[in-house]
This record gives sequence, structure tokens and C-alpha cells, in this order.
Amino acid sequence: RNRRDKPQVLEGRDISSLAKYIKSTGCKNVVLMLGAGVSTSAGIPDFRSPETGLYSNLARLNLPHPEAVFEISFFRKQPVPFYTLAHELYPGKFRPTITHSFIRLLAEKSLLHTCFTQNIDTLERRAGVPDDKIIEAHGSFAGQRCIECKQPYDDEKMKEHIFSMKIAKCEHCGGYVKPDIVFFGEELPEKFIRAIPNLRSADLLIIMGTSLTVYPFASLAQRVDESCPRVLINLDHVGDIGSRADDIVLLGKCDDVVKDLCVELGWEDELIKLWNET
Ligand code: APR
Repeated sequence: RNRRDKPQVLEGRDISSLAKYIKSTGCKNVVLMLGAGVSTSAGIPDFRSPETGLYSNLARLNLPHPEAVFEISFFRKQPVPFYTLAHELYPGKFRPTITHSFIRLLAEKSLLHTCFTQNIDTLERRAGVPDDKIIEAHGSFAGQRCIECKQPYDDEKMKEHIFSMKIAKCEHCGGYVKPDIVFFGEELPEKFIRAIPNLRSADLLIIMGTSLTVYPFASLAQRVDESCPRVLINLDHVGDIGSRADDIVLLGKCDDVVKDLCVELGWEDELIKLWNET
């Protein structure tokens, strides 16, 4: 049933009602769902934006289909496309964005309950978001192992291989080594599965920079109570956000919307200060 009628928790479905709610005593546990759109202004392309998205630029790697770059069966035959992508995306080259600083600001105001991210760029951590608040649902470059015997591989050696575009091979069985990034068809990290019940504690869900096309991550948006406002901050309208009485849809670049929200909250100086420190 679409309860498009009057909001239950918010006064209205606009940015000032959202700011009012965030500052109210009823808003204690903010849960975030992030996608590649929060890192595009850092210079990291997203996946599905036409023209600029990675999937339309991976054609030069002559993939059978764009997602093959994250498929084990393809990687086992041709590891070069993924290693090329890893070389381009490897953490350390990019600066966190204003949106990442906003996440840190929520944590500093003891409002951040959990930050679920699909991104592998580690920009949340680099922006100073506390590690115990971050759930990297699609893994990260933090570790790596052989895709055949699962034997872990040395961090420094892996870094060298990725930087010099050499394919790392397992020293025990000769299989290819892959960072602990979740490929299509692979299990999501235990830490993600264990954190799913966190959604029940959410007083506010903010979804930023994602097409909500990849599951099970996208299903998190259905797991908050009806009484929990859901906010979409995205260039385009995605998922079913807007169908509930307390949903708010704020279309636009996330850095711009986040700045406008912080002006409404009176947090803009703190936000800019944090960002200037990163
Ligand atoms: N501000 C707001 N929204 C933006 C911005 C921006 N600056 N830039 C892009 N977007 C939006 C796009 O319009 C799109 O709706 O962010 C969304 C990005 O969607 P995708 O490219 O599909 O990225 P994402 O949702 O993170 O992909 C999910 O797919 O390939 C897998 O594992 C990969 O984690 C990834 C998953």
C-alpha cells in the first residue's frame, strides 16, 4: 500500500523538514547506504552512468560484457582487465569528497550508527569515519588471496604487482591472486551479513550515489521500519524511494545536496573544516 499521505515523522518531505528531524531528539541512529556516486567528484568513475561510467569505458578491455571484469569465471581466464581496473582504482590516489566529510561529521555528532558502502575506494576510512562504523559490503583491497586454494597473499607483494601491472600468482598452487573484493556470485563478507539487523535500529536511512541495482545490498532499503524516514540523495530517482509517507527524494549532486543540508543544519563551517583537513 502506498501511504503517500501525510508524513508520520517528518513535518514535510523537503530538506528543511529533514534538517529539523536530524536535530530532533527522535533522530539518534543514522544508517547510510553508499554507492559509487559519492566518489565521482573525487575522480573515481561510477559504473553505470552513461558515457562516464566504468562499464561504458571498459569496452577498451574487450570484455564480453562490462560486468565480466568482476566475474570469477572471466578473471580465471583473463585477469588483466581486473588488474587494469585495480591499477586505476587502487586506494591512495584519490582524496575523499565533501560527502565523505559529512559522514565523518555525523559520526562526530554521535549520530552515525552504520555506514554501509558498496565502494572499494576506502574513501570513508580516509575521510576519518570510524572503522567500526564502516561496513564494506563489496569487500576492499585490504587483503588478497588465491582464487583456487584461497591461500592469503602478502600485502606488499600485491601492492607491487598492482602498481607494476603484473599478475600476482599463488606461491603454493600457481593460481591467480585477487584482492578481497566481492565478485558477482561470491558471498558478501560475514561482517555485512552480521550487520544487516542494524537496519532495525535506524531512525533515519540516507541513501547516496547508488543505482540500487545490485542485490543483496539494495534490499537494505526495505529493512527499515515504516516509521524510519528514508532519504535518497542521487542524480536520478532510483529504487522505490518516494513510495513511503516519510521518504524524501533530493535529486542532484551529492556534494551539493550535502552542502545545502549542512547549511540548513548550521553545520557548514564544521563540514568545510573537516574537508579541508582531509
Ligand atoms: N551525485 C549524486 N549521484 C551521483 C553522482 C553524484 N555526483 N554521480 C553519479 N551518481 C549516481 C548515478 O546517477 C547512479 O544512479 O550514482 C549512481 C551510481 O550507480 P552505479 O554506477 O550503478 O554504482 P553503484 O550503485 O555503486 O553500483 C553498485 O555494482 O558493479 C557493481 O560492485 C559494483 O558496488 C558496485 C555495484
